[in-house]
Amino acid sequence: MAQQIIAFTDNVAEKLAGIIGEISYDKLYVLTDENTFAQCALKIKDFILNSKAHVITIPAGDTAKDIESISKVWMELSTTGATRRSLMINLGGGMITDLGGFAAASFKRGINFINVPTSLLGAVDAAVGGKTGINFNGLKNEIGVFCPAYAVIISTEFFATLDNDNLLSGYAEMIKHGLISSNEIFNKLINYDIRSRDNIHLLSLLEESVNVKREVVEEDPFEKGLRKALNLGHTVGHAFESMMLEDNKPVLHGYAVAWGVVCELILSHRHCSFPKDILMLTAEFVRINYGAVYFGCKDYDRLYEYMTHDKKNDSGYINFTLLKDIGIIELNQTASRKEIDIMFDIFRDLMKI
Ligand code: GLY
Repeated sequence: MAQQIIAFTDNVAEKLAGIIGEISYDKLYVLTDENTFAQCALKIKDFILNSKAHVITIPAGDTAKDIESISKVWMELSTTGATRRSLMINLGGGMITDLGGFAAASFKRGINFINVPTSLLGAVDAAVGGKTGINFNGLKNEIGVFCPAYAVIISTEFFATLDNDNLLSGYAEMIKHGLISSNEIFNKLINYDIRSRDNIHLLSLLEESVNVKREVVEEDPFEKGLRKALNLGHTVGHAFESMMLEDNKPVLHGYAVAWGVVCELILSHRHCSFPKDILMLTAEFVRINYGAVYFGCKDYDRLYEYMTHDKKNDSGYINFTLLKDIGIIELNQTASRKEIDIMFDIFRDLMKI
């Protein structure tokens, strides 16, 4: 897979102008969603005017990451004369970079695109690493391709538009990157006060965190092995996310991942001797910053059921990424129903619910 340029900046318009100045293209497109357009497009208003970019806007939210929205994007590209030499800038959260990446990767068999994530979650995860796609037939990311953006531009300017919950949501993926990489990175993350809104400090932590993902993706772009490490916390996290959605109490992805990480560190401790002190430290960090997800024994059956439907599972077994220690990854682990019940019991104790 081609390497991506990943740029960190506090001036997105200037960085964009610099990067597109190095690319040969005929027409320029900016894809965004209605919310992002209202909150963030001002930051690149002059850039849009000066570059004569054609702006395509689609509805916001994960439910709009669908065939109708992408069809609208293809239609606008087609009817405004986009060619294989056209360039698309995806400005938004993970929904826009996923959908826009797939629209670009498939239009006329592929045009160049640049991702400009506007959420912390998008910056640390979705925009980087070449996964693109849309939801289809009720299934998340059912249709898509691996296709890296030419460049990803990450700017502090957008962090100010995020509320604490959305900041915390992205931060959970950063904690995960700390756990799968090194004590040094993990310690810095666990000791940073996310509510301080110190964006300069956050950008330096983010840069390290994105580099963790970049290194993993460079080694295993198509998720045959090591890239599965990025799934730490997600097997249980997705189950929490689905349960809360079913109960009409949807939670942000990163909150579910934070709780899922604690659960999967419990399994890591029991299966792979992951150090108890780091488990306890992470659990306390999550309890204080993310609160708890409230559930009882009566919910174990359906949480287990959600996990059995995870698309990472192989041959009927629930597939977990576990850790032996910080940075020591144990891929393709499984656990019995009894062990999963015990994991939930311990989690509820640690979260004091
Ligand atoms: N979100 C995990 C990955 O990019 O592989």
